[in-house]
Amino acid sequence: MHVLVIGAGGREHALCWGVARSPLATRLSCAPGNGGIAQLAECVDIAVDDFDGIVAYCRDQGVDFVIVGPEGPLVDGIIDRLEGENILAFGPNERAAILEGSKVFTKNLCKKYNIPTAAFEKFTDLEKARDYIQDRGAPIVVKADGLAAGKGAIVCETTEEALAAADSIMGGQFGAAGDAIVVEQFMVGEEASFFALCDGRNALPLATAQDHKAVGEGDVGLNTGGMGAYSPAPVMTDEMCQKTMERIILPTMRAMEQDGRPFKGLLFAGLMITERGPQLIEYNVRFGDPECQVLLARWQSDPLAALIAAAKGQLAGYEVDWSDRAAITVVMAAMGYPGDYGKGSEIKNIAAAEAIAGVSVLHAGTKLEDGKILANGGRVLGVTAQGSDIRTARGRAYQGIDAIDWPEGFYRRDIGWRAVAREDALEQDTLEQGGA
Ligand code: AMP
Ligand code: GLY
Repeated sequence: MHVLVIGAGGREHALCWGVARSPLATRLSCAPGNGGIAQLAECVDIAVDDFDGIVAYCRDQGVDFVIVGPEGPLVDGIIDRLEGENILAFGPNERAAILEGSKVFTKNLCKKYNIPTAAFEKFTDLEKARDYIQDRGAPIVVKADGLAAGKGAIVCETTEEALAAADSIMGGQFGAAGDAIVVEQFMVGEEASFFALCDGRNALPLATAQDHKAVGEGDVGLNTGGMGAYSPAPVMTDEMCQKTMERIILPTMRAMEQDGRPFKGLLFAGLMITERGPQLIEYNVRFGDPECQVLLARWQSDPLAALIAAAKGQLAGYEVDWSDRAAITVVMAAMGYPGDYGKGSEIKNIAAAEAIAGVSVLHAGTKLEDGKILANGGRVLGVTAQGSDIRTARGRAYQGIDAIDWPEGFYRRDIGWRAVAREDALEQDTLEQGGA
């Protein structure tokens, strides 16, 4: 079958990587793709929001299945458009994608169906929001209602910061996405990413992951799309996964069905693991980036077959096999990211990194020009490695990074620190017990 992947990031390179190894795929295209994707798929120069162009390509080139990577086109209804043309596609339709498209919708759903999440209040009136913030005090979290490229949530340590955040979001910092805001209680705990493949009725939990959102080592500095990720997430024990399914994912699936918005596609719950168990921070309606890279590294059975089963409503009894090895992705970004950064510098020696056992280099913002790989975005590469545990995988990923020659890039040296510290503590326990 001819498969088309929509998107241009590391997530889409990982999806293409997964599809390319499926015996079901006889032809693979990506719109618009990037320099790495170009090495395993036909990249077509169609923007992710050019629905007419995408539909025309599907018709002309006999595309049998479309996998949509990013949230923008999902929230804007690309699945409705493709299904309207009888093209099978993976992802939620516009009515279901509202789980990511509107934080107010999701918070109200949580309230109505008793799904654990931070206490919150919604405002469309700035003065009322300011009064509420002053009344509650800090720490407190202020969020734009709509899509804001992952930057719409501001965790505020002082009341002044929270007031300034409300002023700037409602003042138009994120355009119409900030016409309404959510002000919510600050939750204390460890964050984890939980993924479920959904077919409208059934939800199949996938492997767990954790990412590092902050740009700086020690998880400090500005938030980014994610500077690295690893799987599995040690904090997501079997018990915690079960609680997440019972208290969060399955009630959401039932609620969406009852509301006439059955959810198909990938449901990504951002969780805070608190003393009271998992709490929902937010939903995304697509794979995480860079979490998708570590999931695809560990996905052993055919990923394409699973996505097709989800799109066709055939997940009942479906199983996915996972490697019991750990995987890690370390992102290399252009100097200056998440602020201003330059484009066009050449990246050399990627092949040397990929020659290391267990290492794959997944591209995000790159382009292939005259046989050279050039930086073409903020997050540029995701060096992905596997190993018997996170520490081993991490050692390989950094070996890969050290092999790459790109002076204009930077990365965090401490991706996976929490998981490695846990592994060290476990090992110490074992040694002490052995010695006693
Ligand atoms: P969001 O865009 O809603 O995922 O939020 C971005 C980041 O802000 C999350 O990954 C958390 O680190 C943090 N955050 C959001 N909401 C809360 C909350 N209620 N309590 C603590 N941290 C939060
Ligand atoms: N890495 C987090 C996200 O994709 O939203």
